[in-house]
Amino acid sequence: KKILVLNGPNLNLLGTREPAQYGSDTLADVERLCAEAGTRLGVEVECRQTNHEGALVDWLHEAGREVAAGRMLGVVLNAGAYTHTSVALHDAIKGASVPVIELHISNVHARESFRHHSYISPAARGIIVGLGVKGYALSMDALVRLNDDV
Ligand code: DQA
Repeated sequence: KKILVLNGPNLNLLGTREPAQYGSDTLADVERLCAEAGTRLGVEVECRQTNHEGALVDWLHEAGREVAAGRMLGVVLNAGAYTHTSVALHDAIKGASVPVIELHISNVHARESFRHHSYISPAARGIIVGLGVKGYALSMDALVRLNDDV
């Protein structure tokens, strides 16, 4: 089965963007870590990034159809700043009935108060926050384990 890893706005700038918050790994490094985790976990992995909210909505709908068809375990979603603004992403996750692990590289709760509220969290299957880019592999691990019931 497959896991879809979705990165939202500004995550294409990983590596140079606020390294004190997000570390020095680039998006390409993150996608390589995800591919390695996929091999280790025995799942296929596809990584996509966009700066556009509607593209994330479309991809969540697509993932919902793949999950319903039994071809996908779920989505690892780092929605970036849309986390804190997007009712549309909340509705897309619910509407598509797709298991989503909400992921943040930084500990959003230790940062500005506008990062403390997430529209994704109430619709997410679970949340991984503040563990750096290792959170991507941990989120993938979670989707596999939830599916295996172990
Ligand atoms: C982020 C946290 C968000 O608050 C921020 O807007 C991001 C990245 C993270 O991975 O820590 O773009 O989702």
